[in-house]
Amino acid sequence: MWSITLDGKLHLAPIGPNPQNVLDIGTGTGIWAIEFANTYPSARVIGTDLSVIQPAQPEVIPSNLSFEIDDAEDEWILPQKFDYIHGRTLATCFKDPPSIIGKAFDALAPGGYFELQDMCLQTSDDGSMNGTALLEWQTHVKEAATKTGVEWTNVPNYKRWMIEKGFEGVTEVSFRWPSNQWSRVRKERLLGAWTQAQIDNGMLESVSTRLFMMKLGWEKERLDEFLARVRRDTKDPRIKAYSPITVVYGRKPLSA
Ligand SMILES: C[S@@+](CC[C@H](N)C(=O)[O-])C[C@H]1O[C@@H](n2cnc3c(N)ncnc32)[C@H](O)[C@@H]1O
Repeated sequence: MWSITLDGKLHLAPIGPNPQNVLDIGTGTGIWAIEFANTYPSARVIGTDLSVIQPAQPEVIPSNLSFEIDDAEDEWILPQKFDYIHGRTLATCFKDPPSIIGKAFDALAPGGYFELQDMCLQTSDDGSMNGTALLEWQTHVKEAATKTGVEWTNVPNYKRWMIEKGFEGVTEVSFRWPSNQWSRVRKERLLGAWTQAQIDNGMLESVSTRLFMMKLGWEKERLDEFLARVRRDTKDPRIKAYSPITVVYGRKPLSA
């Protein structure tokens, strides 16, 4: 979905053709880091995560990529300064996102870029989400997320936090991932189909179960009944919901 959104690009920051030292925080399966390392053979890429899930086929890991286990909320102990630091889909991960932005600033070489690619909770521009189970789901999710100590609503603040930290040329670019194929824009219809594929693959259940049952104390029966209504709303083309997608990047000043 990210590849479709960014027309095949891995980043929007103007990092030039020969980046040297690159860091991907919260790398997950390493899918972005693998593609980046293959695209830029000049780069030495490090992917970090709480627990690195190695791809099923280790032979796909390029020789200019390594993985390290690191909690990005701890002190960053890394061997060198980076030309480019990237983090994708991390909106639900950090208790203190401004501190991550600060650590990235410190870990960059002067002139280096930091880029965050992320998604927000769904919204609609025409009020069609009002009164839906889809909107109610968000109310519960926000309440439960707050109980975990991680707010899920931080993405719109990324740009301001980067400017406050001292990044220059901070640029925000927005996209939309519709809940289904309601959009008239061809690319968005494709993204809506992928959103539905994720829901059909159990994404809604996997996101909801821990939060609703462990944090809000819901019984499984109540959750199942509720999620059936949410799923129905996600498939309804009259409900023009979409996830706002945000890419923010900025440069560490040469004078820093
Ligand atoms: C939604 S996944 C995104 C994976 C990857 N960035 C991508 O776009 O394919 C979020 C990842 O962040 C990792 N994560 C969560 N909290 C973290 C932390 N404090 N430090 C490092 N990684 C973290 C999770 O383990 C998970 O792999």
